Amino acid sequence: MDKLIVHGGNQLSGHINISGSKNASLPILAASLLTKEKVTIANVPDVSDTNYMLQILSALSAEVERFSGRFNIEAKSVRTSAPYELVRKMRASICVMGPLLARLGETRVSMPGGCVIGDRPIDLHLKGLQALGANIEMDGGDMVLSTPNGLTGTEIDLQGKHGPTVLGTDNVMMAATLAKGTTIINSAACEPEVVDLANFLISMGAKISGAGTRRIIIEGVEKLHGTTWNVIPDRIEAGTFMIAGAMAAGSEGITLNRVNREHMAVITEKIEEAGHICNFSHDDTSVTVIPGETPQGCEITTNPFPQFPTDMQAQFTAMFATTPGISLVVDTIYPQRFMHCSEMKRMGADIDVDNGRAVIKGVGKLSAAPVMASDLRASAALVLAGLTADGSTHISRLYHIDRGYEHIDEKLLQLGAKVERVSE
Ligand code: EPU
Repeated sequence: MDKLIVHGGNQLSGHINISGSKNASLPILAASLLTKEKVTIANVPDVSDTNYMLQILSALSAEVERFSGRFNIEAKSVRTSAPYELVRKMRASICVMGPLLARLGETRVSMPGGCVIGDRPIDLHLKGLQALGANIEMDGGDMVLSTPNGLTGTEIDLQGKHGPTVLGTDNVMMAATLAKGTTIINSAACEPEVVDLANFLISMGAKISGAGTRRIIIEGVEKLHGTTWNVIPDRIEAGTFMIAGAMAAGSEGITLNRVNREHMAVITEKIEEAGHICNFSHDDTSVTVIPGETPQGCEITTNPFPQFPTDMQAQFTAMFATTPGISLVVDTIYPQRFMHCSEMKRMGADIDVDNGRAVIKGVGKLSAAPVMASDLRASAALVLAGLTADGSTHISRLYHIDRGYEHIDEKLLQLGAKVERVSE
């Protein structure tokens, strides 16, 4: 098992390229099961979650070939069920359910287990697929879905108690592309990753309108065809490195290339509100982040896009830990997603967590400590905390970060940070 040692106190400078989006890649890879024809997908980040998804596609009998950073996927024939050993490793494997059901009329997928960031039910996925005509039974921990009469379009509301569902919207949208008639998804998620999936499906011949709004309309077609696609940049990786710039860059800042400014709007706004400078290039595809002279604490509340993303709250908490003043972080999507706070407290942070809210009193400096990564974004927050801490922070269970950040140690080294990946 690897750990990362972050030697604090080195000023960051220079530039890096942001990778393709993990959370757009996962459903797009799954959607390649919807056609027998060859699909080529570029800008898929080399992280363990995308590798699990590619292994699942292979286990389902799709031919997967990698060449110069692109993947060719050809699912001429497909099996109905994915092996539990692979599926259990990643919640997002649930997004093969919609495509398999639509293509084969039946599928068996393991029920995903609990998750450290909180209860993550899939009732809305099932509600949507059931409304399209699926019979659902539980068998030995698996969900067995079948459509004796095929899928038929209908009007579905996917509102949950914490708002819309991203992968639930994806699953229902993918299944509806091959259903008879028209499907309307109300209370749909409008995250850029959902829009990227919709555009990918449209390039395969699907008829979809309204992606990026709360109402998506899908007119079913007989079949989809092959395509070539370039996945959007990862807005969460970009946001994480923007925070690294705000916390640890020198007066020239750091520059992140291959970003999409529109996707970064609320993250940029909050970094600026905290007193830092974000300068985008004329074409809005790169950003330079320079630490401000008078940083100040502020408030963030996570909510569905276009509001503040839950996947950035841990990284902002790391920044607030050493930002003068009092900051408030509220997570309405995953009220239990505060595991990083107890680790940061071991580094000297002053954070009070209660009922989905963290109150952070900025301290002058954190001091290094051995800490444990608990989930993907929590680990990123610990890396950020380590960049400016006194001493060397040892972050164990690095596999969490490898799920979603492509070569994070190499990118940090490129920016002048002192980090080492070592085996424990
Ligand atoms: N929810 C339900 N019922 C459902 C599905 C979700 O109640 O059937 C609830 C969840 O418990 C949560 C809220 O609805 O409170 C939103 O969950 P959502 O379904 O949108 O999450 P997801 O689609 O499973 C994706 C990302 C997560 C990100 C969330 C929220 C991928 C692969 N995962 O998960 O990303 O936090 O949307 O934006 O796209 C990460 O990258 O670190 C990560 C966890």
